[in-house]
Amino acid sequence: MVKKNINLGLIGLGTVGIGFIDLLTAHKKLIFDKTNLNFIIKKAVVSSLSKKRPPCTDSIELSTNPDFVTEDPDIDVVIELSGDISLALQALKNTLSHKKGFITANKALIAEKGEQVWPLFKQHNSLIGFEACVGGSLPIVKVIKESFMPEQISLVATIINGTANYILSTMEQEQLDFAEALKLAITKGYAEPDPTMDIDGTDTAHKINIIANLAFHRAFKFTKIDKEGIERITKKDLIYAKSLGYVVKLLGIAKKTDSNEHHIAVHPTMIKESSSLAPVRGVYNAALIRGDFLGDSLLYGEGAGAHPTAVAVVSDLIDVVSNLTFVESAKMRHFPQTAYNFQKGELLAVTELKHEHYLRLTVKDSIGVLSKVAKIISANEISISKILQQESSINDNQHLIDLIVITHRAKDVNIKKSIAQIDAEDFSCISPVHLRIEKNI
Ligand SMILES: NC(=O)c1ccc[n+]([C@@H]2O[C@H](COP(=O)([O-])OP(=O)(O)OC[C@H]3O[C@@H](n4cnc5c(N)ncnc54)[C@H](OP(=O)(O)O)[C@@H]3O)[C@@H](O)[C@H]2O)c1
Repeated sequence: MVKKNINLGLIGLGTVGIGFIDLLTAHKKLIFDKTNLNFIIKKAVVSSLSKKRPPCTDSIELSTNPDFVTEDPDIDVVIELSGDISLALQALKNTLSHKKGFITANKALIAEKGEQVWPLFKQHNSLIGFEACVGGSLPIVKVIKESFMPEQISLVATIINGTANYILSTMEQEQLDFAEALKLAITKGYAEPDPTMDIDGTDTAHKINIIANLAFHRAFKFTKIDKEGIERITKKDLIYAKSLGYVVKLLGIAKKTDSNEHHIAVHPTMIKESSSLAPVRGVYNAALIRGDFLGDSLLYGEGAGAHPTAVAVVSDLIDVVSNLTFVESAKMRHFPQTAYNFQKGELLAVTELKHEHYLRLTVKDSIGVLSKVAKIISANEISISKILQQESSINDNQHLIDLIVITHRAKDVNIKKSIAQIDAEDFSCISPVHLRIEKNI
């Protein structure tokens, strides 16, 4: 039997769920003209049945039980937009066991439960879509999985959290402190009331882990990713960075080293003002993908929000549906199961990598401090390339200065040792701020 009407069951009618309904409604004719398919949202699962919902949901039957959509034989595709990891994992298993399509925007599910999720994706490849997990209007999953399939990727450097990027670029442009920029982000709706996972790098780590798995064809453990947030960056650091020709971005980086080892990290990073990622400001996201035949390729766009994310969900939906056998256009668009045939991946810890480093030391303005700092750093086998000295503040009648130290390439482990030793000295008044410098991005 050939079907033109595809029945959908949603799990979640929140920001992305409503954005998805908006898009299907606004572009109903356009989607039908291009695909010959009508999408009908029959049922949805929510956590509260008494919550007031917009009129666009009036014709949808609601339940709080995910089986309501995963086990209904009339539902062809389940679209999981709840954010709940354990619910999503159970719904994924149930949906696939009933041979329906499954689309998700749940980055935490894939990043944290990869060991369970990737084998299911391998087995049911053509029935799965997860583009919406990473970067809203950046079609990075499809680009890496399909367009760049023959390429050997050595680097993916991303600005992939709009909230963190908004905060850092607002601090830089408006000369605000972190707390002021965060407040502005919350007021403007660019940050959740609890923005912890955006600020501490967890959200970026989820996304870069998914990207790295696809780019390097390996399953990496989420807990092994090195992660630092932006909480300790001050407007002073952004000013000092600018005076040295850099901007500071929260990067999610996945690298393959010359010795074929892999590294994934999230940390605030100094990149050159001339980098293609430097002008990415506000809530925008970008991903720089480097391959041996490709050179550098850049994706740019709004990373989150109801409507950009909805485009990714609908795009996945059309792919998945075109693989359902009862659809006229069924033609197996996806790659065969090898697309998710990942080896187990080991990660090189950041401590083993070499970077140039920026340190901001807030120290007492007294004789001998500079030479003590230089001594500690050189004792840890690090050579200094530049030192700047700036008046910092007056604390208890004591003049403080900022010492900005830029090092030559040095192992992270040695920098960490130097920081701990400097911090333990009497002259150190505020714990040092440390940023890695990436000159090749
Ligand atoms: N917001 C974005 O811009 C964005 C972008 C990309 C990806 N995502 C991802 O998309 C997913 C949804 O995000 P969102 O911002 O739309 O979230 P949201 O606004 O909080 O909406 C979540 C929806 O799921 C329902 N829900 C949550 N837990 C449930 C449970 N245990 N049982 C049944 N229903 C449950 C909620 O029901 P009630 O309505 O009854 O509360 C709500 O309708 C998340 O995985 C998120 O990471 C979001």
